[in-house]
Amino acid sequence: MTNRMWGGRFAETPSEIMEEVNSSIDFDKRLFAQDIAGSQAHCQMLAAKGIISADDAAEIIRGLDQVQSEIEAGTFTFSRSLEDIHMNVEARLAEIIGPAAGRLHTARSRNDQVATDIRLYVRDTIDHLDHQLADLQKALAIKAKEHSDAIMPGFTHLQTAQPVTFGHHCLAYVEMFGRDRERFADARKRVNQNPLGAAALAGTSFPIDREMTSQALGFDSPMRNSLDAVSARDFAIETLSAAAISAMHLSRLSEELVLWTSAQFRFVSLSDRFTTGSSIMPQKRNPDAAELVRGKAGRVIGALVSLLVMMKGLPLAYGKDMQEDKEPLFDALDTLSLCVAAMTGMINDLTPNLAEMRAAADAGFATATDLADWLVRVLGLPFRQAHHVTGALVAKAEARNVGLHELALAEMQEVEPRITDDVYSVLTVDSSVRSRKSLGGTAPDNVLAEAERWLKQLG
Ligand code: ARG
Repeated sequence: MTNRMWGGRFAETPSEIMEEVNSSIDFDKRLFAQDIAGSQAHCQMLAAKGIISADDAAEIIRGLDQVQSEIEAGTFTFSRSLEDIHMNVEARLAEIIGPAAGRLHTARSRNDQVATDIRLYVRDTIDHLDHQLADLQKALAIKAKEHSDAIMPGFTHLQTAQPVTFGHHCLAYVEMFGRDRERFADARKRVNQNPLGAAALAGTSFPIDREMTSQALGFDSPMRNSLDAVSARDFAIETLSAAAISAMHLSRLSEELVLWTSAQFRFVSLSDRFTTGSSIMPQKRNPDAAELVRGKAGRVIGALVSLLVMMKGLPLAYGKDMQEDKEPLFDALDTLSLCVAAMTGMINDLTPNLAEMRAAADAGFATATDLADWLVRVLGLPFRQAHHVTGALVAKAEARNVGLHELALAEMQEVEPRITDDVYSVLTVDSSVRSRKSLGGTAPDNVLAEAERWLKQLG
């Protein structure tokens, strides 16, 4: 049998390989709910405008409800020869209600249909991701509140730099995921525009009402150029770029978990629930979930690149190339959702090893900047000179294998005779973090207030 959708002109069936390269049903079947919602909105509008009869519309709506139930129940047979979700649904509708099914596609094309379906899917997925990211922020803010004064080394170049608090470190990610949510919310505005009614590319001669379908489907407004409506995929690309950035943030946090759970750091422990053992080395506890979140960022970033490259050479309007948007888009958004869930699980699961973190902060001359600042504040040295003096003191402490606070006053005075006892008050990691009260600084009071502010905002 030739294709029932365009068999009028075609005498032969497609070759097997044509069917394989052309068919998208294996992956676009997940758009069934969006496809049916779009069809029902379109059908209601056609009836309201007198383009099809109320009786036919009622039959179509009923038939589509049945198709949806069959798909949800798993009794629907998807067929590759029917190419995609649009034609699978319509073909089954025809079996259920007969010839009236043929009226549904009036004033519509698969080009505006598929654009509508993907926009609805992306919109719903953004809303889901927003909830998930808020949960992750909450998990981090709770840890931050619990450990607002837990001292750990802060790093630059992965070298001990200045002491910070564990809570402050957690809140840094709360900020990042907050911006990720803003990016998704911003992308959502451009996702939530209605292409339905653009038809194949030029609009239609039927007196359709695009405001009506927009309202029915929860779109903000109809898109204003039919060529653009069917051929734009920047909404998906923009969403993927927000996803790629978020995946990159998750990957950075994962990298920290990988480092922190290592025997070299031992800053945090993950339980059996989020680690695996080795089949050969009994001592191992591997942070696989963190590694996988780090690794999966590559897929999300790849999806963004994939869509950009797929689109960059396409003349207006629709081209079948665009069918290739779906697999990377679905994969990336599924992957991100899984990664956010895994990260939230790990954050809830982890226990910071407070003693290890503090010991590491004590070990790396992390208060050297505080010493230099003291020389500026108390002795009035220019910062550059203070830096130099402090460097000499660090070298002394290093040579003796002691901390800065363990240098005797006499030893310090060999380098700078005006140093007094008062200097010891700034050499502990506690005094260091307590002093960092500037807006956004790591002082425990700041961190506690910020954690509470976030928790209140996150509800
Ligand atoms: N499966 C197609 C896609 O994903 C639907 C649109 C097909 N349109 C067409 N003119 N062949 O893009």
